[in-house]
Amino acid sequence: MNPVCFKFIQTIMFTVCLVMQLVYGEQEEIKCIEKEREALLQFKATIMDPYGMLSSWTTADCCQWEGIRCSNLTGHILMLDLHGEETVYELAFRFHYVVTSQRYISGEINKSLMELQQLNYLNLSFNYFPHKQIPEFIASLSNLRYLDLSYSGFSRKIPSQFGSLFHLKYLNLASNSLEGPIPRHLENLSKLQHLDLSGNSFEGSIPSQLGNLSNLQELYLGGYESSLKIDDGNHVGDPWLSNLVSLTHLYLWYMPSLNSSQNWLQMIAKLPKLRELGLFGCGLSDHFILSLRSAKFNFSTSLSHFYLSGNAFMSSTIFQWVSNITSNLIELDLSDNILLEGSASNHFGIVMNSLEHLDLSYNIFKGEVLKSFSNICSLHSLYMNRNSLTEDLSSILHNFSVGCVRHSLQELHLADNQITGYLPDLSVFSSLKKLYLDENRLSGKIPEGSRFPSQLKLLSIRSNSLEGGVPKSFGSTCTLELLDLSYNKLSEELPVIFNHLSECSTLQKNSLQELNLADNQITGYLPDLSVFSSLKALYLDENRLSGKIPEGSRLPSQLKLLSIRSNSLEGGVPKSFGSTCTLEWLDLSYNKLSEELPVIFNHLSECSRLR
Ligand SMILES: *[C@@H]1O[C@H](CO)[C@@H](O)[C@H](O)[C@H]1NC(C)=O
Ligand SMILES: *[C@@H]1O[C@H](CO)[C@@H](O)[C@H](O)[C@H]1NC(C)=O
Ligand SMILES: *[C@@H]1O[C@H](CO)[C@@H](O)[C@H](O)[C@H]1NC(C)=O
Ligand SMILES: *[C@@H]1O[C@H](CO)[C@@H](O)[C@H](O)[C@H]1NC(C)=O
Ligand SMILES: *[C@@H]1O[C@H](CO)[C@@H](O)[C@H](O)[C@H]1NC(C)=O
Ligand SMILES: *[C@@H]1O[C@H](CO)[C@@H](O)[C@H](O)[C@H]1NC(C)=O
Ligand SMILES: *[C@@H]1O[C@H](CO)[C@@H](O)[C@H](O)[C@H]1NC(C)=O
Ligand SMILES: *[C@@H]1O[C@H](CO)[C@@H](O)[C@H](O)[C@H]1NC(C)=O
Ligand SMILES: *[C@@H]1O[C@H](CO)[C@@H](O)[C@H](O)[C@H]1NC(C)=O
Repeated sequence: MNPVCFKFIQTIMFTVCLVMQLVYGEQEEIKCIEKEREALLQFKATIMDPYGMLSSWTTADCCQWEGIRCSNLTGHILMLDLHGEETVYELAFRFHYVVTSQRYISGEINKSLMELQQLNYLNLSFNYFPHKQIPEFIASLSNLRYLDLSYSGFSRKIPSQFGSLFHLKYLNLASNSLEGPIPRHLENLSKLQHLDLSGNSFEGSIPSQLGNLSNLQELYLGGYESSLKIDDGNHVGDPWLSNLVSLTHLYLWYMPSLNSSQNWLQMIAKLPKLRELGLFGCGLSDHFILSLRSAKFNFSTSLSHFYLSGNAFMSSTIFQWVSNITSNLIELDLSDNILLEGSASNHFGIVMNSLEHLDLSYNIFKGEVLKSFSNICSLHSLYMNRNSLTEDLSSILHNFSVGCVRHSLQELHLADNQITGYLPDLSVFSSLKKLYLDENRLSGKIPEGSRFPSQLKLLSIRSNSLEGGVPKSFGSTCTLELLDLSYNKLSEELPVIFNHLSECSTLQKNSLQELNLADNQITGYLPDLSVFSSLKALYLDENRLSGKIPEGSRLPSQLKLLSIRSNSLEGGVPKSFGSTCTLEWLDLSYNKLSEELPVIFNHLSECSRLR
C-alpha cells in the first residue's frame, strides 16, 4: 500500500475510534472481576435475605450491585456495605409509633469473601448472626481499614487472628454477645483510631497492651453483661491509659471495681485531648471522691462532656468535685444516681460558665437545687424529671429565675415529681421552648393572666389536677406546636376552649400541630375546627362531650388523627368529615352514635371518590 495512503487510513481509523469513544462515553469503564463476582455469589448462596438486600446481585457487573464499591482503576472490590437497619419505632404522634425501618441478612457467612483481598471497608452491622463466632477468615482481609460487625448477635471470642489486621483504623464489635478476655493481640493494630467493644460480655482485665494504641481517638468498653476491670497503674506499675494521648472519647460502662482504686482516674485526667468521658454505672461514690482529695489533679481543659449516670453519688460533694477539676464542661449527666440529693453552691454556677446541658433526672433532689443553677448563663436544658420536688411551682420557678438562666433556658423537664400549686406566668423565661410538667400535683384553675414565653413550642402538663379551662392568653402564643393537658380535671365547654386557643388562627399564624385534651371532664359539642390550620392530631377521648356533631363542623385541613373515644356523642358523622383527605385515624368508639352505618360510610367516603 502507498505509505501516504496508509497514513491517511490510519488517521481516519484513529479519528473514528476517538469519535466512538466520545459517543459511547466511558468505553473502558472498569468491570467487576469475575473471581470476585463468583465469591460474592457463593456468599449470597448461604445468606438468608428476607428483605431483598441482595436482590440486585444478579447482573454481570458486580460493581453495580447494591452495597459494593469497586476501584475505578483496578476493578477490585474495595467496599462491602451490607449493614442492616434496626427496627425503629418512630413517633408519628406523641403516643402513636410506627415502624420506620427494619432490614437485615442472616445465615452463614461464607469463607468465599476471602477472595476480596483488596477490601478496605466491611460493614455487616445491624444484621442477625446469633450464636455465630466472628468468622476467622476476616483476619485474612489484610487491607481492611474499616470493620463494623456491631449489633449483629455474634458470640464467643474475638478471633485471635484479628491481631494481624495491621491497617485497621476503625473496629466496631459493639452490642454482640462476645465473651472471654479482650485479646491482647489488639495491641498490634497500631493505626486504630476507633475501637468499640461495648455491650458485650467480656471479662477479666482490660489488657494494658491497649496502651500501645497511641492513635486511638475513641474507645468504648464495658456493658451490662460484662465484668471488666481496669488494671490500676499502681499495682502493675504501668500507667497504660495515660499513653492513649490521642484519645478524645472514652466511655466505660458497668465497671464497679473502679470505685475501689483511683489511679485510673488520674491517668484519664492526663489525657490532653479528652473531650467526652462517660463513666456509666461504675459504682462511683462520695467516698471515692473524698479519697481522691489528696491527689491533686485537674482534667484537661478540653473535657466538655462528662457523663456520670448510674453511679452511687449521694450528696452535693459531686458538684463541688466536678467544679474543682473541670472548667469547660458543656454537658454534665448525673442522672440515675438514685439517692443523690442536696444543692450546689453558687460557686458551681460561677465555674460552670459554659454548661449547656445538665441532667439530674432519676435522683431525689428537692426544688431548692434549681436556685443554685440560676446563675449559669449558658444553660439550655435542665432535666429534673423523676426527683423529689414537692414544692410549689411558683416558688421553684421564681427562685430559679432570679439569675441570667431565665434568658438562656430553652428546655425544662420537671415531669414525674410532686410539685404543687398552679401554673404561674412563665413569660420570664424568655427563651423557653419546651416545658414538661407531667405527672405532678398541679391543681386549680390556670389563672387568666398566665402568659407563656413568646417562643414556647411545647407544653406538657399531662396527669395533674388542673381545673376549669384554658386562659385566653394561651391562644396568643403562636409558636406553640404541642399542647398536652390530658389526664386533668378540665371541665370547661369545648367550644370555649377552642375559642381561647384560636387567637393565632385568626391572625393566620397558628402552629399548633398536636392537641391532647383526653381524660378530662370537658363538656359541650364538637365545634368547627377548621381554623386550626396546622393541627395534625387531636385527642378528646374520655371526656363528657355530648349531642350531635353539628353538620357544619369542619376538621382542620391537615388533620391526620382524631380520637374522641368514650364520650357521649350522638347521631352520625357530618359529611364535612369525609372531605378531610389527610385523615388516617378516626376513633369514635364508645359513644352513642346511632346513625345507620351505610350513611356514616357514605359521609366518610368523599375522598375515596376523589381518588
Ligand atoms: C476514581 O474515583 C475517585 C473517587 O470516587 C475519584 O476521585 C477519581 O478521580 C476516580 N479516578 C478515575 C481515574 O476515574
Ligand atoms: C461456602 O460455599 C461453598 C460453595 O457454595 C460451600 O461448599 C460451603 O459449604 C459454604 N460454606 C459455608 C460455611 O457456608
Ligand atoms: C456501618 O453502618 C452503620 C449503619 O448504617 C453506620 O451507622 C456505621 O457508621 C457504618 N460503619 C462504618 C464504619 O461506616
Ligand atoms: C500480635 O501481638 C501478639 C502479642 O500480643 C504477638 O504474640 C503476635 O505475634 C503479634 N502479631 C500478630 C500477627 O498477631
Ligand atoms: C507495646 O509497647 C511496649 C512498650 O510500651 C513495647 O515493648 C511493645 O513492643 C509494644 N507492642 C507493639 C505490638 O507495638
Ligand atoms: C465500691 O462499691 C462496692 C459495691 O457497691 C462497695 O461494696 C464498696 O464498699 C465500694 N468501695 C469503695 C471504696 O467505695
Ligand atoms: C474542692 O476544692 C476546695 C478548695 O480547694 C476544697 O476545699 C474541697 O475539699 C474540694 N472538694 C472536693 C470534693 O474535691
Ligand atoms: C486546676 O488547676 C489550676 C492550677 O493548679 C487551678 O488554678 C485551677 O483552679 C484548677 N481547677 C480547674 C477547674 O481548672
Ligand atoms: C425560694 O426562696 C425562698 C427565699 O430564699 C425560700 O424561702 C423558699 O423555700 C425557696 N423555694 C424553693 C422551692 O426553693
